[in-house]
Amino acid sequence: MEGYGVLPTSARVIIWCCGLLLASIVVVWFVTPAPQSTTISPQVSPVPQPQVPQVPLPTGSDPESVALRGAILNGERIYQRLCYHCHGRQGKGDNNAYMDSIGHKPADHSDLTAMQRLSDTEFFLALRDGVRDKRGWFTMPPWASVLTPTEMWDVITYVRRLPLAESPASSIP
Ligand code: HEC
Repeated sequence: MEGYGVLPTSARVIIWCCGLLLASIVVVWFVTPAPQSTTISPQVSPVPQPQVPQVPLPTGSDPESVALRGAILNGERIYQRLCYHCHGRQGKGDNNAYMDSIGHKPADHSDLTAMQRLSDTEFFLALRDGVRDKRGWFTMPPWASVLTPTEMWDVITYVRRLPLAESPASSIP
């Protein structure tokens, strides 16, 4: 008969196992080297700036050149704010899933030959009224409620110059 205070075999096995586990934890604790202290660099890397195409600007100080320069810069501001999400910084229109999903590619705005197929009036109407697919759904949204006609012409003036831009070293969307 087992005496008072003598544990049954199963309990002893469990205690042994716990002891072994504890012992191995202690061993691992001592054997594992202390983590290397990491020094956090005080330098913060600069936020990457989007690389917009460098379109040539008229340099003259005559009223015509000044007005044209203003229009191009305003067009750039609009395009690189409202249009690049879909058409891309460079106007290539191939940089997102939505553009791939419409079934055909929009024109490459940086391709002179492709853009020459689009008259100024067609360009303006595409912008003002949007472009619809065969089902009548907008593939390109209309901008009439967002941009004034002058702003639309400024964007057109800018886009017409995209083929003349030097391609930047990298393109950050
Ligand atoms: C929501 C995405 C989206 C935005 C934002 C957008 N477009 Fe488009 N755009 C399209 C798609 C898609 C087409 C092609 C439509 C088609 O052919 O079915 C298109 C077509 C055009 C066309 C007709 C020629 C071509 O590329 O096929 C012009 C011009 C154009 N966009 C200019 C602009 C301008 C300028 C802006 C900014 C004011 C702009 N788009 C903003 C999606 C967009």
